[in-house]
Amino acid sequence: MTVDDLAHGWEHVSRVYNVALYIAEQEGANKFVVGMAALMHDLGRSVPQDGTTHHADLSVKLATELMKTYQVPLDTQEAILHAIIAHSFSRNIEPRTLEACVVRDADRLDSLGALGLTRWAITGTIRRNPQTRTYHPTDPFAAEHALDDRAYLLDHFYSKLLKLSDTITTNTGRRLSQSRTAFMHAFLRELRDELDIQGSSAHSSSHTLPTTPTLPTLPVLP
Ligand SMILES: [Fe+2]
Ligand SMILES: [Fe+2]
Repeated sequence: MTVDDLAHGWEHVSRVYNVALYIAEQEGANKFVVGMAALMHDLGRSVPQDGTTHHADLSVKLATELMKTYQVPLDTQEAILHAIIAHSFSRNIEPRTLEACVVRDADRLDSLGALGLTRWAITGTIRRNPQTRTYHPTDPFAAEHALDDRAYLLDHFYSKLLKLSDTITTNTGRRLSQSRTAFMHAFLRELRDELDIQGSSAHSSSHTLPTTPTLPTLPVLP
């Protein structure tokens, strides 16, 4: 991930901050801990990465240095750092405080709904290689093939995005995630309809090849 990645930059951080504070208000969580952790959760993505350190670990390191400067009480620092390290899907650390649950929910909510769709497209474009396709040519909705979201961008819905709602832990977060996930299912239905209109059999669950559109016959020039 580059330091100017639009999907994980300040726009993302400010949305996570606002949603996290909203959830904290509804759930009665400590808003200082939630707000600080939300603001610093992706700090590790703001500096060049060597590819060996997870961005959440890097965020913890940078947040620790920052909080020392501002002399944040030790127990508050620990609560903030735990919420930062537990936010990541791939780092896979269970949140053990309400505040960590709130920050993780807010971060995951930004991968859902219209915003999630936007970030999916941005991230897929950044990570793509020359072989990457938007979707599998004969099985776009992953009915049969082994999921590979590096090869087919749409596979990311099935490997991660549509599963995120099940990992949301707060009641407020769950309510928001359900409507955002419903929107993503509606997007997939629309995409299926549009592929149908194109006369393509690309969405078919069978492995038949898509039909080639018939081109109009050009008049013969004199
Ligand atoms: Fe992150
Ligand atoms: Fe994030």
